[in-house]
Amino acid sequence: MIPKTFAQYEQEGWQRNAATYDVIDLPTTRQAVTPILDSLGSLQGLHILELASGTGYLAKQAVAQGATVTGLDISPKMVKIAQKRVSVGASFLVGDASDLPFEAERFDAVVCSFGFPHFAYPQKVLKESARVLKSDGILTFTVWPESELDNNFFGLIQKVCQIYADPEVDLPPAPSSSALANPTIREPMMTQAGFKDIYTQTLDLRWPLQGPETMVEFIVKGSVRTRMLYERQTPAVQAQIRAGLVTETMAYIRDGKKSIPCPGMLVIGSKAVVRMD
Ligand SMILES: C[S@@+](CC[C@H](N)C(=O)[O-])C[C@H]1O[C@@H](n2cnc3c(N)ncnc32)[C@H](O)[C@@H]1O
Repeated sequence: MIPKTFAQYEQEGWQRNAATYDVIDLPTTRQAVTPILDSLGSLQGLHILELASGTGYLAKQAVAQGATVTGLDISPKMVKIAQKRVSVGASFLVGDASDLPFEAERFDAVVCSFGFPHFAYPQKVLKESARVLKSDGILTFTVWPESELDNNFFGLIQKVCQIYADPEVDLPPAPSSSALANPTIREPMMTQAGFKDIYTQTLDLRWPLQGPETMVEFIVKGSVRTRMLYERQTPAVQAQIRAGLVTETMAYIRDGKKSIPCPGMLVIGSKAVVRMD
């Protein structure tokens, strides 16, 4: 049997997560929508391509500000939810961000909210984004910073998994989820793909606490990569991971906190004009 690729697991994972996405993940990711849209200036009359458009929340805000949006997502269930959310001013299609079904120089801007950590071929997505942008068009996307710090949502999850999980389980080869947060990787990748004037900003996002099981719920209903690691553990180790996550979450709840810091990173680049001489 041919083993499944990371891209296949991602597609299946988001199909599974689609129904609960707006309850588990969106309360955090939607906090990045205003900074992403603000990076484009006035949206009036812009045609925006949104990659990994999820359940269509960003598209709805962009349309309300005068833009037309084309959303593309690998999960048909996500696309269906987005179509229901925004029926005028936006259209959504199922597709792979690394192989865009659009002619060159079609869009004024390309945006992508937390899609890059899930792409099997991020370099191809950057190249495709540059191809479909008009000259001087803008690409804006968000990623999660490298979370080796243990004082944020993903850092705490990573810490608990590092303590209890067996890392030697069989996982498909995949690019680092935070590669584009690292300037030594991001700058050459974006420059080679055809972007200039690369600018980044840290976003002060927070993961709302919905009870002691907040992190556990995220792993089993709102993540793909972490769930792959979790599901490959023995039942005993899974129980240890869940208990560890509840302990970390309870520390915030006992302190009267309503959320856990979950900083995001905004990345903006302009399409570089290619000289033909
Ligand atoms: C974390 S969600 C982000 C959704 C939304 N942009 C947001 O910020 O709430 C990741 C999304 O990426 C989509 N996705 C994963 N791989 C993709 C690919 N190769 N091409 C297009 N979309 C992809 C998933 O289906 C999912 O909707």
